[in-house]
Amino acid sequence: MIQNCKMMHCKRIAGKEGALTAIEGGIDIPFEIQRVYYINNVPGDAERGFHSHRKLEQILLCLNGSISITVRTPYEEQVITLRENSEGLYIGNMVWREMRSFTPGAVMMVLASMHYDESDYIRDYSEYLREAELYFREQR
Ligand code: TYD
Repeated sequence: MIQNCKMMHCKRIAGKEGALTAIEGGIDIPFEIQRVYYINNVPGDAERGFHSHRKLEQILLCLNGSISITVRTPYEEQVITLRENSEGLYIGNMVWREMRSFTPGAVMMVLASMHYDESDYIRDYSEYLREAELYFREQR
């Protein structure tokens, strides 16, 4: 997995009557959850994301269907298909993300470490490269 990202596995209890997936604060999540939001009704040809966050950490979970997530740093890129299978994607700060290929009825839920703050976003890709190159150089 690329730097500042990792897959996380949630506890899932599945049987004939359906599946229950549990995520416990302080145990499964490496940050305190300050915000939860979800995305649905996304047309199959729509693309979302195209930004990074200076500080925010998130966990992306696909509750129904599947979604293709591209995560990128100035040095690495990975494409992950999130499915309704209890695998979540942790995205740390300074990672560029793009979301596409939402299947009909796909639902993505996001657990976030901070309240919504537009000043934490980097939406311009050249600005992202400028800040992220400095950030990841210091990490090495
Ligand atoms: P954005 O994060 O750009 O969504 P995506 O990456 O899925 O395309 O947010 C879309 C819009 O929603 C933008 O105007 C900001 C607003 N928004 C909130 O008001 N609160 C939130 O918690 C989030 C995530 C977005």
